[in-house]
Formats: sequence, structure tokens, C-alpha cells
Amino acid sequence: MLKSLFVYGVLGVMLIPVKSEQITVCVEEDDELRVDCQIEPKPNRINSYEFALSIGKRQLIINTNVSGGSAEEEFKGKSRVEELDPHGYRMTMTSFREYLSDDTIFLCKISGESDSISVQKDNLATCSAVSLLLKSSWSWTVCLLLFFYHTHS
Ligand SMILES: *[C@@H]1O[C@H](CO)[C@@H](O)[C@H](O)[C@H]1NC(C)=O
Repeated sequence: MLKSLFVYGVLGVMLIPVKSEQITVCVEEDDELRVDCQIEPKPNRINSYEFALSIGKRQLIINTNVSGGSAEEEFKGKSRVEELDPHGYRMTMTSFREYLSDDTIFLCKISGESDSISVQKDNLATCSAVSLLLKSSWSWTVCLLLFFYHTHS
């Protein structure tokens, strides 16, 4: 009992910094842009998503299924959206580089709640670096677990 409390405590602490970001942007190995939006939907609201970007005064919808909303012509067929676990959506798009400036803002909206992140073209994370971070926190967990079982068996 105490043992598992400890393990979940350690796991929880490690996951907090990852979980607190509701929107993340990175570039995949195949050179597609990935935007993860993990806003928790409110119960009893219509489930919908919208991904957009804004450069200067222009705001362009990339992909949405909000009823009545539609993506800009220039983005049609260039992006796809999948559901994330336990909630949220991932949007992946091709040919994104022309939209990157010194201050491009990516926005997402889930069931009416929105969040945004500013991205600079010279300082875009690659997704493998992000997952490496996750992997390294996992290996720390494994180390701790091994250590724990070692000292208590
Ligand atoms: C949008 O897509 C999600 C997942 O495919 C679905 O659950 C939801 O009902 C859709 N919303 C609308 C307004 O079509």
C-alpha cells in the first residue's frame, strides 16, 4: 500500500510539468508540424475542435469541426486531426514553413475553451526531443522502482 503510494507519488511529480501545457507545437521527423491540444472538454458541452494560426493581424483556421466553421482554402487537404488520450486533439500539417514568422501564434479551441502558443521560426522544437524528455523521465521512474524494490526485498 505505502509502496504503491510512493510510486504513484513519484510518477505524479514527474508528469506535472508535462501535463500543465495545454498546447504544444513541434516538428516531426517527416517534416510535418504537430500541434497537440489537450484542453479538457467541459462536460455537457458540444465536443468540437478548432486549430488556427495567426500572423500579424491575420488569423487563419487550419482545421475545425465546429459546426458552421471552415478551414481556409489554402489549408484544405494539408492537415489532419486525431483524438488524443485521455482527451484533446492532435493536428498534423504539411507545408507549414511559409507561415512561420518571428511571431506566429498557434491557437486551438476545444468545446469553446481556447489556448495559444507563440512560435518563432528559428526556435521550433523537434518532436523527438520532446519524447526524449518523456523517455528520460520514464527511465528515471524505472531506476527509482528498481532501487525501491532492491532496498525492500
Ligand atoms: C468533432 O469531432 C469529434 C471527434 O471526431 C467528435 O466527437 C465531435 O462530435 C465532432 N464535433 C462536431 C460538432 O461535429
